[in-house]
Amino acid sequence: MSIQKKVKNRHTLHSGIFNPTLRKWQSLQSEIAPDNLMYPIFIVEDDEAVQPIASMPGVSRYGVNKLKNHLGPLVEKGLSSVLLFGVVESLPKDDTGSHADSPQNPVIRALPKLLSWFPSLTIACDVCLCPYTSHGHCGILFPDGSINNTKSIKRIAEIAAAYAKAGAHIVAPSDMMDGRIGAIKDKLAECQLRHKTAVLSYTAKFASGFYGPFRDAAKSKPAFGDRKCYQLPPGSSGIALRAAARDVAEGADMLMVKPVLSYMDVLRDVKRAYPEFPMFVYQVSGEYAMIYHAAKAGALDFKTALSEILVSLRRAGADVIISYYTPVVLDWLQTKS
Ligand code: PBG
Ligand code: ZN
Repeated sequence: MSIQKKVKNRHTLHSGIFNPTLRKWQSLQSEIAPDNLMYPIFIVEDDEAVQPIASMPGVSRYGVNKLKNHLGPLVEKGLSSVLLFGVVESLPKDDTGSHADSPQNPVIRALPKLLSWFPSLTIACDVCLCPYTSHGHCGILFPDGSINNTKSIKRIAEIAAAYAKAGAHIVAPSDMMDGRIGAIKDKLAECQLRHKTAVLSYTAKFASGFYGPFRDAAKSKPAFGDRKCYQLPPGSSGIALRAAARDVAEGADMLMVKPVLSYMDVLRDVKRAYPEFPMFVYQVSGEYAMIYHAAKAGALDFKTALSEILVSLRRAGADVIISYYTPVVLDWLQTKS
């Protein structure tokens, strides 16, 4: 028999996957444990409120006191991190997003309580202006409606520092202004908080059609125009890599790609370019809703499909997946064989 032929006969794949342990060994890098999940949460002004979100069935906005009951069992199941979004209804919105960091801000008020109730929980805060500005854009604007980047990053840095002062372990700027990571790091240093505040950059955040349900949930829809002059163009992986290089140079501690299902190539590119950095992906509101509705319509089996998506994100290079499905997945992990 020729060597060629012998080698060919050894190319058997079934022999490596015929039982669950063997299959696990083939996929260890894609395993999902609680530490691979971060849970996004919407916090409202009324501490006793629970408001189901119509565009995201199964997800609610919470007042901080109600959050205690919601998070308690999840922490028991291993939840290790959350990402907080403030939502305001009665506090006034203005040009500079004054209530993003005012003492009445729901995230600032919730932080001390959450830290005392859940000392093991790592708390990240989304940093942006859009939920707090009258115009609903993520930065401060010139009179002609374009972004005043200098003023925007100064303001974003102030807000990040306010969350850090209130106890946030991680600040996560989602505004996509130029130079925000450096501005935040400088401000944290000035406040002597740099050593105990991590910066998770929404590095490659694309101008996406998948944010619709979130803008409902966070009441943060732009009053005019769109976000295409600051969020990245969906067709470009080049600018995503430039964004990653820039954020790394400015001192980001962790990087993110968002949304993810339509941007798995970017996820892989960024992870390969910067394997030294924990890589986050955000399975956004539209991706959440898409899976929910497809399963509800009977087009796919919910557990099989969602598990497959999450595993594929890990396989593509994600270390941490930010997902509204976190409670469901934590349940599955309790009973995993
Ligand atoms: C706002 C922000 C958005 C998301 C996170 N922070 C929406 C946007 O930029 O319009 C999206 C999250 C999601 O869709 O789940 N800066
Ligand atoms: Zn924003």
